[in-house]
Formats: sequence, C-alpha cells, structure tokens
Amino acid sequence: MRSLINLAHATRKAVGQTSQLYHTARASSKFCLPMIKGVRGYSDVAEMIARFRAAAQASGQRFPDWNVVYQQGPLEVMPWYFPGLDHDLKSALAEMKLSEGTFVDIGTGPGTQAKQLATMGFEVTGSDIAESVVTIVQEQISTVNFVVDDILATKLTPNTFNYAFDRGCFHCLPPEHRGTYIQNIQSVLKPGGILFLKTFGVDPATEGFGPYQFTAEQLEELFQSTFEILGSKESYFDGAIEIKPKAVFMILKKKE
Ligand SMILES: C[S@@+](CC[C@H](N)C(=O)[O-])C[C@H]1O[C@@H](n2cnc3c(N)ncnc32)[C@H](O)[C@@H]1O
Repeated sequence: MRSLINLAHATRKAVGQTSQLYHTARASSKFCLPMIKGVRGYSDVAEMIARFRAAAQASGQRFPDWNVVYQQGPLEVMPWYFPGLDHDLKSALAEMKLSEGTFVDIGTGPGTQAKQLATMGFEVTGSDIAESVVTIVQEQISTVNFVVDDILATKLTPNTFNYAFDRGCFHCLPPEHRGTYIQNIQSVLKPGGILFLKTFGVDPATEGFGPYQFTAEQLEELFQSTFEILGSKESYFDGAIEIKPKAVFMILKKKE
C-alpha cells in the first residue's frame, strides 16, 4: 500500500492530475494511471512518457507493467506507435528478396509491424506479454495470429519460424534475461532462420530511463555465439514522437 501511495504521489507530480484522479490511484488495488481520453497530438505522447517515467520511478522498475501500459490510452499515443513497416526492415526484406514464409513479431504491441508483414505475403504470428494489447489487436487485425506469450518463458513451438522481428522488445529486457531471450529466439526459429533486431542506440540524453541502449558491437558480442551477424547499421526509430530515437538495426542468422 505504501508503494502505491508513493506511486500516486509521483504520478500526480509528474503530470499534474486532479486530486480526484490521485485518490483513484490511491484506492486502486494495483497501480493505475489516469486515462487519456483522446489523441490531441505530440503533447499526449509526451504526457504518456511522463506517466510511464513516474510509474516506473515510483515502483523502482525501469518499465511500468506492460499490461497496464496498454490500458492507459489509444494505441496511437504509445511513443513507439508507427503504422508503416519499419524502414530498416523494409529495405532488408527488399534487398534479400523475401516476401513469403513464417514470421514472428516478438513484442508486437500495437501489431502494426505484424500487419504490414502479413500484407506483404508472410504468414505472421504476433506475440506479446501484455494480454491487454493482444486482445485489442486481435479484434482489429484478422490477417495475423496474435498470442499472449512471454518470450522469456515462451510457449511458441520450436523450429517454427523462418523469420523473427523484434522492434523494441529486447531492449526492454533486464540484462540478466538477455541470454534466455537469445536461446528462446534461437529455439523458435527454423534452421538458418533470421532475426531482424532493432534496439535503441546510445544516446546520453536519454540514458537511464526506458529502453536499454546498445552499440552494434555490444549486440554482436551478445548474439555472436548463437547467431551469424549478416549485417548491422546505426539508424533511428519512427514513432509517435517528434524526436526519432537513435537505433541499431541488425540482421542475424541462426547458426546450425
Ligand atoms: C516498445 S514496445 C514495441 C512494440 C512493437 N514492437 C512496435 O514496434 O510497435 C515493446 C513491447 O514488448 C512487449 N514485451 C515486453 N517484455 C516482453 C516479453 N518478456 N515477452 C514478450 N513481449 C514483451 C511489451 O508488451 C511491448 O508491447
């Protein structure tokens, strides 16, 4: 209860909400942030980030509970929301002349990437730890099979997918779970399967909150015993925010 009250204090301070909302948060049985009613523009997204920061700081975690995150407002207000296919993945698929096969979108969230891949002709599964978002996107997108799945304890069938895409899931995982993630991605990919991985790049201005940041060299070191590195480059994330966060994009092939 004490941490819940601390959380309510931090939330109230960060986003300047009314005392009524503050008391609602105090009375809640689990942490709860006020709802956004509609999408006005970038200010809504900035406000959402402030809420995430306050909730994470108050709970002592780097991220809020993902299930709760997706109950805070429309998917379009999530900072990572981008309706088009990620530009790095799009270029890679074109260069590699890939347009069919089985694809899993790990940490699919709003499902936009899974949807675009299905439109291209892939057979797509979108997986996410947050049941709240899976329920929403499965209603909206019928061309993708969405599943609730924690990649750190995955129930996805081994040797199933030709390709995996991760746009922003790996960089949310605590460092001690990275090995499990790598093992599990390797397990669900077919022999010779390819992981397209996009993480935050290094930016001192935003370090310390939200996604962990990586250089290409750090990612290579983490993945190289299990995956062959086919390519890597510095890039950026498109999303619902004006500033485009720095990114690293890698193409990794499962070793035999
Ligand atoms: C930054 S969002 C990116 C969402 C989506 N990939 C996109 O590009 O729009 C990270 C996503 O990873 C999901 N996630 C976090 N931890 C996860 C885990 N252990 N297993 C599966 N999904 C996870 C979150 O629920 C969230 O939807």
